Amino acid sequence: MNKDDLLTLYKDLPNKEMWVNEALFGYEHIQSHLEKLRDASDILEIGSGSGILLSLIQSQYPTLNIDGIEPFSDGFDALQTYQKRMEDDGIHIAKCGYEDFETEKKYDFIFLINVFEHLPDLRDFILFTKRHLKKDGVCLILCPNYSFPYESHFKLPIIWNKRLTYKIFKKQIEKFEEDHDCAGLWKSLNFVKLRQVRKTIYVQKMNLKVDTSIINDIIERLNNDEEFYQRQKIIAKVARLVQKIGLLKLLNLKIVQNIAPYMKIEVRR
Ligand SMILES: C[S@@+](CC[C@H](N)C(=O)[O-])C[C@H]1O[C@@H](n2cnc3c(N)ncnc32)[C@H](O)[C@@H]1O
Repeated sequence: MNKDDLLTLYKDLPNKEMWVNEALFGYEHIQSHLEKLRDASDILEIGSGSGILLSLIQSQYPTLNIDGIEPFSDGFDALQTYQKRMEDDGIHIAKCGYEDFETEKKYDFIFLINVFEHLPDLRDFILFTKRHLKKDGVCLILCPNYSFPYESHFKLPIIWNKRLTYKIFKKQIEKFEEDHDCAGLWKSLNFVKLRQVRKTIYVQKMNLKVDTSIINDIIERLNNDEEFYQRQKIIAKVARLVQKIGLLKLLNLKIVQNIAPYMKIEVRR
């Protein structure tokens, strides 16, 4: 399925171009993991939103066992539009947060794309992956890194922390939530930092791999995806400047990774 097929299939989804683009971005980043899985492997998407990515996976990898979890939480109720069709297509999306997902099942691959920054308790989620990954399983997480002082949903600079940023930009935040029909979105953000994740994984004696290639991929996406460019013009300007002055070459340094605007990480038991 290409972008046009998906846009036609999800024609009544509010903001469909953005959600289709996000699903294609996610697909690009999980594909190398899906390729390695054997038939009948178990995979789980946390925060599957409208389910576009799961239906894409089902069409390309029909032998995988696919589960999804999606609470349609604060600011994301509109994503339920195609819930019934997903069910009819045999994709089961549990309508709850991962916290209430009751299963003994273990997975070969768990993934979450732009969801980690909405979870209330990061340590609790890492423990969830520890419980639900098979011995050789991987959890792939893609999300913003809030050590970089920019909030990408609301397109605002972060002034010191979440609280002060809210005080300063209260009006803009409220207007954004009203205009975009996403009440509760600001409240849902946890301002996660890669540094924090490193610490949690270390304490849990788990393994973490940081994939810095995501930064170049995002710069490429800003060049090729007009809708994304329009949404993230400020990040595009910063990224191009960083690229121009050669800072990207330093991404192998932990200290630079820790302040990069976005993270792609793999967590193993
Ligand atoms: C920005 S959307 C991303 C949706 C989709 N992954 C994508 O990339 O298009 C964040 C999603 O995380 C979900 N979410 C928030 N809290 C969650 C939780 N506790 N467990 C599972 N999903 C959650 C929201 O309902 C929302 O659909």
